[in-house]
Amino acid sequence: MARQFVCNRGDVEPSEMSGFDLSSGARIVVLRVEDRFYACNRVCPHQEVNLDEGIFDGEVLTCTQHLWQWNVATGEPVGLAECPLNVYKVEVEGDAVFVDPDTPAQ
Ligand code: FES
Repeated sequence: MARQFVCNRGDVEPSEMSGFDLSSGARIVVLRVEDRFYACNRVCPHQEVNLDEGIFDGEVLTCTQHLWQWNVATGEPVGLAECPLNVYKVEVEGDAVFVDPDTPAQ
């Protein structure tokens, strides 16, 4: 599957995140740090909890259900998390943010 348009830059404020359910069925979270954008799976890999309801400190995303945490740039677990988080390739062109849910960020 190719990249998909997700949102415009202004739809996600700096140091914030927003969840999006794409028409393809992919469920993702777009996270913004200044002018850098990251994307990850919207559903926690532990249980069916939306990660955009968690906490994002600009580097680490925390699922508030059981406090699993991940580095959003790499998907690597931090602290209690027992598995990595799927993070996806993001491309920004002009005002548009695209995500490829089939391509890892790194
Ligand atoms: Fe997210 Fe348990 S449901 S850490």
